[in-house]
Amino acid sequence: MSYVEDPGPGRGSVPPRAAFTSDAPSLSLNGTWRFRLSPSLAAAPDPVEADDSTWDELPVPSLWQLHGHGAPAYTNVHYPFPVDPPHVPSENPTGDHRLRFDLPASWPAGSALLRFDGIDSCGRIWLNGTELGVTKGSRLPSEFEVGALLRPRDNVLVVRVHQWSAGSYLEDQDMWWLSGIFRAVTLLARPSGGIGDYWLRADYDHTTGLGTVRVETGADVVLDIPSLGVVGHPAGEPLELPVEPWSAETPRLYDGTLSTVAERVPVRIGFRTVTIEDGQLKVNGRRLLLRGVNRHEHDPRTGRVVSRETALADVLLMKRHHINAVRTSHYPPDPAFLELCDEYGLWVVDECDLETHGFGPLGWDRNPSSEPMWTDAYLDRVRRTVERDKNRPSVILWSLGNESHTGDNLARMAEWVRHRDPTRPVHYEGDHECSYVDVHSRMYATPSEVERIGLREDTNERRRDLPFVLCEYAHAMGNGPGGLLEYRELFEKYPNCQGGFVWEWIDHGLAVPGHFAYGGDFGEPIHDGNFVIDGLLFPDRTPSPGLTEFAKIIEPVRISAVPAGLRISNHYDFVDTAHLRFTWVLEDEGTAVANGVLDVPAVHSGQSVALPLPSLPPTSGESWLTVTASLTSETAWASAGHVVGWGQVPVSAAPARPSPPTRGPVFRTSGQLLLGTGEFDAVTGTLTSLGGHPVIGPRLDVWRATTDNDRGSSPGPSEASQWLAAGLHRMQHRVITVDADGDELVVRTRVAPPAQPFGLFTDYTWTAFDGGLRLRVDVTPDGPVPDTLPRLGLAMAVPGTFGSAEWFGGGPGEAYPDSRQAVRIGRFSSSVDGLQTPYVFPQENGNRTAVRWAALTDPDGTGIRVEGDPTFDFTARRWTAAALEAARHTDELESGSLVHLTVDIAQHGLGTAACGPGVLPRYRLVPQKTSFALSFRPVAGGVAN
Ligand code: GAL
Repeated sequence: MSYVEDPGPGRGSVPPRAAFTSDAPSLSLNGTWRFRLSPSLAAAPDPVEADDSTWDELPVPSLWQLHGHGAPAYTNVHYPFPVDPPHVPSENPTGDHRLRFDLPASWPAGSALLRFDGIDSCGRIWLNGTELGVTKGSRLPSEFEVGALLRPRDNVLVVRVHQWSAGSYLEDQDMWWLSGIFRAVTLLARPSGGIGDYWLRADYDHTTGLGTVRVETGADVVLDIPSLGVVGHPAGEPLELPVEPWSAETPRLYDGTLSTVAERVPVRIGFRTVTIEDGQLKVNGRRLLLRGVNRHEHDPRTGRVVSRETALADVLLMKRHHINAVRTSHYPPDPAFLELCDEYGLWVVDECDLETHGFGPLGWDRNPSSEPMWTDAYLDRVRRTVERDKNRPSVILWSLGNESHTGDNLARMAEWVRHRDPTRPVHYEGDHECSYVDVHSRMYATPSEVERIGLREDTNERRRDLPFVLCEYAHAMGNGPGGLLEYRELFEKYPNCQGGFVWEWIDHGLAVPGHFAYGGDFGEPIHDGNFVIDGLLFPDRTPSPGLTEFAKIIEPVRISAVPAGLRISNHYDFVDTAHLRFTWVLEDEGTAVANGVLDVPAVHSGQSVALPLPSLPPTSGESWLTVTASLTSETAWASAGHVVGWGQVPVSAAPARPSPPTRGPVFRTSGQLLLGTGEFDAVTGTLTSLGGHPVIGPRLDVWRATTDNDRGSSPGPSEASQWLAAGLHRMQHRVITVDADGDELVVRTRVAPPAQPFGLFTDYTWTAFDGGLRLRVDVTPDGPVPDTLPRLGLAMAVPGTFGSAEWFGGGPGEAYPDSRQAVRIGRFSSSVDGLQTPYVFPQENGNRTAVRWAALTDPDGTGIRVEGDPTFDFTARRWTAAALEAARHTDELESGSLVHLTVDIAQHGLGTAACGPGVLPRYRLVPQKTSFALSFRPVAGGVAN
């Protein structure tokens, strides 16, 4: 059998060992290589003897499909090749890579290792004409001994990479299929008498405050930790000493060195102990609440080639958004990422490079997890994971992989891990019985299922007594996730429910001219469309509203209104609030009128204090006190002043305003009705002009451009399919009467879709007052209406010159009923363009909620103003909902000559049905008899309020 289809591990490499640097010479072989792509192995000429002068150039590391060779392809579950394990297609793109290099003059003779940090999916390697071996396990390192083959000048390194290999059956993660040498290539001199491998075990006893350090390595290695006064401590001997522990909140690392006469290795030591006690996952004696994300490695230009800068950008963004944990879905990341997790403080679930999901649709028949021919490959992969990352204090759980069903090979992996590293529990979600894992893990469980687990109602005793985590939840695809608050409440209520990891960190969109591409954009015959666009970050790492919401949900300091004033609760797992400064600002109708500093005693982890409100000056309008907790001084990941928690307390409600006297009556002219500042079409009764500005509508409207969550992914009918089947996107407006007697214009209509017996009786009652119009809308469902509506409100259009929005209400960002924790009440402004959230796959977005009033104006301040009774939601965009629904990429949305405005009394929630539970009952918009009122005023330049 060819090495490509051999289900076993690679061959020829040295045993796996820890990733580390040392003072021994090393040479990066990253750079410009020669490259030739052949359509198959059979068609690929000998790469060793070849003349590469005619080959292309290719950067290494890279993935060749992102450099004009072949094309990316995206599938979630399905293998893009016949499931015929371990065979792969004969048409197996084969990329030959060649590099000529000289050694530095000072390069020592003797042993040297050639290290590849990642080759996707299988590489065969030659140096100076001699074959070194074969590597598989794309996101795992391999090292080959090359000392005897090196020469001072003109070394020729040849790496033949196959897109498909037997290993591809184990690498069916939900991501782009991309190939190449995508992580670093390094030559490492290995001095004789040097440090081949080490395991620096550093535990912490929270009952004594003592740390214990012990180095497992070869003989004659000594440890120095200058800041602890440790000098020349021999390997193998435990050493106990008082230390500050490591945690994600206090990532205290002690710099030290391991040395022999021949080599010095810098080490960074974090003291911490992971335990499972009382059915809870603890570190240093404290229960953890994992406020985590699943992180794939992604860059919109280079794919899974992720630089240290990009990894750092991720870590900083996570820390700044209060995220404290990462699952490295679904493979070990570039080693630099874990070093950064140690340094900045993140709990890590380090996951092995393993997924066989494509066997699922086949009933798991011949699934590698239970076939003996794959056992060695499974063990090889987990060994390489654990050996590489064993020195990272941030790693607190080993994960065997993802979506590979269950089987002996997984059980064998777990057994190996437990034997090799008894200090970290084993995670794997697919072991539903929890027969070989230490943590009960689920993905996308509903809040009620989590509640049952919290109540320990499980009949499986082993599983019932384990800590519970959601390794995936809150699918962040498109607009969403909705419903995060309910999960937080459960994690805080039940000690065994220890949080989870939002799916997922970043959209995997690939940058192409004009937009970000997703599945199908490269002509793939089988693909899963935009299911790869499901992150809290847009592909360019701009935070999405979902991340802003998640950050608010998980903020470590919570400030809430209580009858006595306000409550400050510390939700950190370890630290108190002494590092924070609390400030307040009082806003009257959205304008700051006073501010100050709040004196808050240090609140311990898990504790809270109630405080009276500071003394505040009187206000005349609706006023809110906003209290903010921010960092007193700069940290490694944020500057002083970075906000870690905030809350609002209502101080005074808007004074009751008597309804202004009506200014009738209605006049009829030819074809028009005139009422106050408004002109109406006499036949349809719709407003055509307000204060001389042309307007279209407002009319009842219940449609929104469906979100990924509305469209859902589970087998049953989605909300969107029910709405479409009901015809809610094409309602017709039958005018029953237009009654223009006296001071009121009353327009009675029935709004209903074609082909359906149901409808919504909608009555519009217009009255005029000094300077504007008041509209009352009464909606009465008639007949068998659908179970839910997308929204309930009005749609209208105003001149495109009204491109600036200002409002008093919820902001600054978008919000929906089950995703509105991150908005505060204030006064905000934005351009109409700036109100849009550029979801990679266009869909409903940009809704502003709890709005008291909003004005849309031109650059002179001329426009219209809408006032709620008391509040409404609105969107404003330069295209219709129909255009938004039809668009597949952001650059298909073209601005027209109008601004389309929706003014709503209700929106359906978002939920996370793109993968997981739909909208919870309390956030569903169920049609019922509804009345609401609004006022519309023209505004003249400069007097928008
Ligand atoms: C999970 C899987 C993830 C991802 C997610 C949906 O089942 O583990 O890799 O596919 O669903 O986006």
